[in-house]
Amino acid sequence: MPAIAAENEITIQNLLAAFEGESNAHAKYIAFAVKADQDGILGAASLFRAAGRAEQIHAANHARVIKQLGGEAKCEIHSVEIKTTLENLKAALSGEQHEVDVMYPEFLAEATTHANALAIRTFTGALEAEKTHARLYGEAIALLQAGKLDSWIGAAREFYVCPVCGYTSETEEEHERCPVCNCPWEKFEIIR
Ligand code: FE2
Ligand code: FE2
Ligand code: FE2
Repeated sequence: MPAIAAENEITIQNLLAAFEGESNAHAKYIAFAVKADQDGILGAASLFRAAGRAEQIHAANHARVIKQLGGEAKCEIHSVEIKTTLENLKAALSGEQHEVDVMYPEFLAEATTHANALAIRTFTGALEAEKTHARLYGEAIALLQAGKLDSWIGAAREFYVCPVCGYTSETEEEHERCPVCNCPWEKFEIIR
């Protein structure tokens, strides 16, 4: 294993924190999807699965950079607290908002200070994808609170997830390429 350069030490710590956050978000969303299916809120279950897949992509991207910088990607997976689907959606939204407003901007600023292109790329992809998750969770919460089970939250549906950066979309013909990382649309994963 290559030695860790001094200027990469904090960047690696941040990558490890992000890797842990993404790995646990993946586990959490998969558990929340099972609960949403049990509650019959099938579109919310689809959304949890799609966002969960995106978090798995983020974790893998961060792990790759940790290795490239000479670190070792490992973390603890915590047990998941499962509540009602409305509460689970709110917990998911607040996690996404923390990542968008606090965690990734801080980590990006640090990586930028050291001009660490690998870290900047993986943090940027995740940050932009989390914005799509926050928007979709926010919409699902509003619909569920309004009792609109005849909307998209009530039936299983397809989401489109960028296999490179985790950008998540609910519409198929929106783009020809991922607006975040330029990955061709035909490579997107369809998650239901
Ligand atoms: Fe993520
Ligand atoms: Fe996310
Ligand atoms: Fe992408």
